[in-house]
Amino acid sequence: MGVKGAWQTAMHELYFTIETERKMPLDVIVGTQWGDEGKGRVVDLLSAQADFVARYNGGDNAGHTVTVGDQTFRLHLLPSGLIHPHTTGAIGNGVVINPAILVREMETLQAAGISIDPTRLRLSYAAHLITPAHLALDQAQEAARGKGKLGTTLRGIGPAFTSKVSRQGLRLVDMLDRAAFARSIQAHVKEINRTLTGLFQAEPLEPQAVAEDFLGYAQLFAPYIGDVSAMLSEALARGRRVLAEGAQGTLLDLDHGTYPFVTSSNPTAPGALVGLGLGFSFVERVIGVTKAFQTRVGSGPFPTELHGELANRLRGTGENPWDEFGTTTGRPRRVGWLDLVLLRYAVRVNGLTELAVTKLDILSGMHPIRICTAYRQEGRQWEDLPLGPGGLEAFEPVYEELSGWDADVSQSRQWEDLPAAARAFILRLEELAGVPVRLVSVGPEREQVVEIGGD
Ligand code: GDP
Ligand code: IMO
Ligand code: MG
Repeated sequence: MGVKGAWQTAMHELYFTIETERKMPLDVIVGTQWGDEGKGRVVDLLSAQADFVARYNGGDNAGHTVTVGDQTFRLHLLPSGLIHPHTTGAIGNGVVINPAILVREMETLQAAGISIDPTRLRLSYAAHLITPAHLALDQAQEAARGKGKLGTTLRGIGPAFTSKVSRQGLRLVDMLDRAAFARSIQAHVKEINRTLTGLFQAEPLEPQAVAEDFLGYAQLFAPYIGDVSAMLSEALARGRRVLAEGAQGTLLDLDHGTYPFVTSSNPTAPGALVGLGLGFSFVERVIGVTKAFQTRVGSGPFPTELHGELANRLRGTGENPWDEFGTTTGRPRRVGWLDLVLLRYAVRVNGLTELAVTKLDILSGMHPIRICTAYRQEGRQWEDLPLGPGGLEAFEPVYEELSGWDADVSQSRQWEDLPAAARAFILRLEELAGVPVRLVSVGPEREQVVEIGGD
């Protein structure tokens, strides 16, 4: 018989307790569309009740906005829940980290009075690094795609995940052995230089210079690097509440999105388990964040896309911080009507338990409001996609018209405060999606929210 380690015994006892007490303290927040649904804003609300907050996928292609009073935070890598001082943050193995961006973000939060130190933040030893070579490759690949470009954020995401999948990536744990790390980072830059110069006629990078910068980051990060899976598993076993914070959205998922116009990670809910190193047994709520309409940055199909006056109305002019211009790239977002075929799909692939609807206030004054309830293709009507969302170009949306409302809903705080037509919109959405709407956001501020039912 093997000898049980102290850790195993402690975990066994804790799991036994959890089994008898039936605590399920892991909540997952996922985007249901093409990103920018307002996940940061919803995470900020829910992290008031969380002990741990953790990013599980993507990298600094994400841009999550949180507005608290007169402060606006735009986070790319750190979990949005860190803005609440009582939380402990983590970045999981499913994230790719550009150290330059992480350092800057840590400094920005510190300057805003939010403490970031190794007692409050853990970085997974198994998270992969994004290097300047990955950035150069993203740029070169997009340029070479010409008209067929994906419209990536140029943050090196695809190349970094390619390194990971091809088992050539650099992980945070590698930073802990400085001499070996200096060698492997130089070998990595030389390897990518061959592609940059040979395939794309692009400028090579200086391996030595990259290595020097990265050794600096290694020193900074060393006290933060640890086992996120172990930290969160133990916390969950003790009944502490963990909020897993997704980046991007379901339709950008590498496996379940509008391939190839997707990102290179798994934003869908199961990605939270893989990307943090957790099992299934602790999941309680899977919260899908959806805008009251639909947006997309970058290329790819968008059946309910609008142009002209209506599009300008939904997008805004860029005057307001919440207008539809990318948080990471500043690009104008493409906009359109809410697509219930795609939302139902998101409910399915994520196993959503509930929805949080954002930006209801933007629909005020629009008459009528349309929602796409099915697709038509060559005389056939589809309520669900026959082969997933890959070949969406072939489908034409079938719309249902709903009455609009004129009242400003941004001051609504109770269900009864909302105009009857706005309530009817939410109820119809809920009915077609098949899961309850638990939260309706009516503005970017913390208190601009209507919570529905629940306990
Ligand atoms: P994320 O990537 O999903 O976190 O979303 P982003 O932060 O990229 O984009 C959402 C934008 O909408 C941000 O500027 C938020 O402050 C803003 N926002 C979120 N919820 C609401 C809302 O209910 N109403 C309005 N007007 N803005 C909102
Ligand atoms: P958040 O977390 C919106 C899009 C890019 C591009 C595609 C691939 O703020 O919702 P990538 O750089 O990931 O290789 O680009 O994915 N994209 C996002 N769009 N919100 C995001 O993040 C996004 N992250 C990536 O625009 O179309
Ligand atoms: Mg965003």
